[in-house]
Amino acid sequence: ADFKVGYFVGSLAKGSINRKLSQALVRLAPPELQMQEIRFGDLPLYSYDYDADYPPIAKDFKAAIADVDAVLFVTPEYNRSIPGGLKNAIDWASRPYGQNAFTRKPSAIIGTSPGAIGTAVGQQHLKSILGFCNSPMMNAVEAYIQFKPGLISDEGEVSVEGTVEFLRTYTLEFRDFIRRVLTVYSRSS
Ligand code: FNR
Repeated sequence: ADFKVGYFVGSLAKGSINRKLSQALVRLAPPELQMQEIRFGDLPLYSYDYDADYPPIAKDFKAAIADVDAVLFVTPEYNRSIPGGLKNAIDWASRPYGQNAFTRKPSAIIGTSPGAIGTAVGQQHLKSILGFCNSPMMNAVEAYIQFKPGLISDEGEVSVEGTVEFLRTYTLEFRDFIRRVLTVYSRSS
């Protein structure tokens, strides 16, 4: 079976290294994964005042999540957490109460940073958030990618063979994880 994967790039920066990483994953993912970006940078700042009447941009954003079988977060760590823009997007997706777009939506997290512990702390925060949002998360393989200049081109070409292999394995594991989760749900629903 084929699965649609909606990916979030946590950074809004033009030169984002996490965007480069997302492009690498798009290139390396197996054919069973249809990768499509879910953009969130133009969402207003969330408030529950919007709950009674979500603006079109937020409805479209939630529809984009509903349309995919799984979500992938490719995100930097900002101040040992996730970027505010990404948290804002998750808050939009999680509401109105009872209409949380992440419920039962399989997810995985990956990220890169120039620092050696490469987004590990930020990813832990994101796991806490997604846990509350009732998203089954892939626990292994974990992926903390230290970004060194030239590792990944803008087009997503990875220059280090070991990293190519690792990222390929990561996407294969995610494919298998999605399959397992959706199989269990199809038996129980
Ligand atoms: C950072 N950076 C950073 N790196 C890290 O490993 N841990 C951290 O907590 C932070 N904190 C942080 C806060 C803010 C506001 C910025 C702008 C940056 C450095 C960060 O990893 C680096 O800028 C990457 O290039 C960010 O990834 P993107 O945005 O290029 O994808």
